[in-house]
Amino acid sequence: MKDYIGVVDSGVGGLDILNYLKADLKHENFIFIADNMHVPYGAKSKEQLEQYGIEIAQYLERNGVKMIIIACNTLSLNAIDKMRESVSIPIYGIARPTVKGFLNHDLKSVLLLATQATINSNRYVEFIKEIDDSIIVYSQAAPKLVDYIESNNLANINDALIEYIDSYASKVEAIILGCTHYPIIKDRIKKLYPNLTLFDSRKQMVQLTNEKLDYHNIRSSNEKQEIIIQATGSIKALREASQLFFDFNGYQTIEGGVNNE
Ligand code: DGL
Repeated sequence: MKDYIGVVDSGVGGLDILNYLKADLKHENFIFIADNMHVPYGAKSKEQLEQYGIEIAQYLERNGVKMIIIACNTLSLNAIDKMRESVSIPIYGIARPTVKGFLNHDLKSVLLLATQATINSNRYVEFIKEIDDSIIVYSQAAPKLVDYIESNNLANINDALIEYIDSYASKVEAIILGCTHYPIIKDRIKKLYPNLTLFDSRKQMVQLTNEKLDYHNIRSSNEKQEIIIQATGSIKALREASQLFFDFNGYQTIEGGVNNE
């Protein structure tokens, strides 16, 4: 039987992570779920996120997935416990590995840029303070960024970045890109704020996935990698929003929900 690693996000941010995972793990198959019917996750309540997460986890388990990587900060921080209770396959989230990447650099102040639901969970601040209580952490929700990226409307994105980041720029040494959509526009942020160090989750997620495949002894050796891209909403919208960084060529696509088989 074929086995897959499931990768989950609300939209195109997860495709960015998938790019890195599939390039490193060439003998693994992947099913990617973009729950873009419910995007933005950042504006949803914890209860809603738990419900989406459980449905997706159960769907993936039914469809041959051996491990789930939540490539979404908002879902990881709000729903991972309930998702884990609902299935028997391992599930890993994105926030702790991201924090680990930041903490390796011995910096003393940081801006967490994330969705409102991620900030509401307060988990990033807890993860950082657990390790070093002296680090100053500012948090800023940036809802326009996900909206602009999902609708492939990048014209006003610099204005939004300035709106969200400018007042912190002289107070911090770094920004944690605490939403998987933001690394897609990392170059723009770097250009606007060249003195700030930016932390994303790409490398950490590849490392985590490798570690956990070995830990659970579930590594595959497929000759030809199979990738399925499923959007609960529109595949067309997902393709358009990711056209600058993700190539759908050769991959199976599925459009539709996860709970109406
Ligand atoms: N990409 C997601 C995250 O990492 C959520 C974006 C959204 O749907 O609001 O938090």
